[in-house]
Amino acid sequence: MTLRVARLSEPPAPAPPRDGAGKLIEIRALEKRFRTRSGDVVQALSNVDLSIAENEFISVVGPSGCGKTTLLRILAGLEQASSGAAMVAGETISAPRPDVGVVFQQATLLPWNTVLDNVLLPVQLRGDKSPESRERALSLLAFMGLGEFAKKYPFELSGGMQQRVSICRALMRDPKILLMDEPFGALDAMTREMLNMELMRLWSEERKTVVFITHSIPEAVLLGDRVVVMSPRPGRISEVLTVDIPRPRSLKTMALPRFGEICDEIRSRFGAELYTEIAL
Ligand SMILES: Nc1ncnc2c1ncn2[C@@H]1O[C@H](COP(=O)(O)OP(=O)(O)OP(=O)(O)O)[C@@H](O)[C@H]1O
Ligand SMILES: [Mg+2]
Repeated sequence: MTLRVARLSEPPAPAPPRDGAGKLIEIRALEKRFRTRSGDVVQALSNVDLSIAENEFISVVGPSGCGKTTLLRILAGLEQASSGAAMVAGETISAPRPDVGVVFQQATLLPWNTVLDNVLLPVQLRGDKSPESRERALSLLAFMGLGEFAKKYPFELSGGMQQRVSICRALMRDPKILLMDEPFGALDAMTREMLNMELMRLWSEERKTVVFITHSIPEAVLLGDRVVVMSPRPGRISEVLTVDIPRPRSLKTMALPRFGEICDEIRSRFGAELYTEIAL
């Protein structure tokens, strides 16, 4: 089944088979240091190495302050690495790229714009006011179950609906890569589960490459092909686990014994780190 969303350009070639697909994102010996206002240096990321294949869904979990957002911002071109490299399709990321869409925890919609104009923003900033763009925005909204809300304003929408609008906005330029920083963190459990299902549907139909940060281990396992576990101070990758649960997955997947085993495995890695911290 294919997503019936009008595209702005020719559809890309069919996705390559997932095994043997090329590495779309390469992170090599990545370090990030921040100088704080008081002059201290904070080592946010240390020696991060990760390769992400085209069409892969990567979940990232780790304790607060371990550098997840920093990593995502570097991939988004919003932050520069102190050393090492982060590349998309072999090119060093030095600025935001049109083939990378970003969704943050807060929907950050413009309150004075309608839902439709918020979704159209990325193309309107380029001076594109074409009917094709409008059609794509409307089909994205319809795909996300918001077809009737195009003319409403953000304040007239629930938090979950606003977050769906921000996902539509990130998809407007048909990015190959979707970077998501705790996009459902502020939502209630039921809305969150529903959006998890919608995100899986979107990913399976549009075959994006997704990097998804979450504080929820079950969410990370439900959605991910692999789960990257990060450890704090300085943030580094402590483990990368493959989720060997076949797709399609649904909320029922969470009742499988294997699902529980993988969640426990991740929790124990977390635990080991945390106990070390406490013991110190
Ligand atoms: N602009 C900045 N200036 C100084 N320090 C920063 C800056 N941005 C992040 N940091 C520091 O870098 C570290 C990692 O922060 P980051 O926001 O990436 O963590 P995180 O894993 O996303 O945390 P959370 O789960 O709470 O969102 C923290 O110690 C933070 O204080
Ligand atoms: Mg963060």
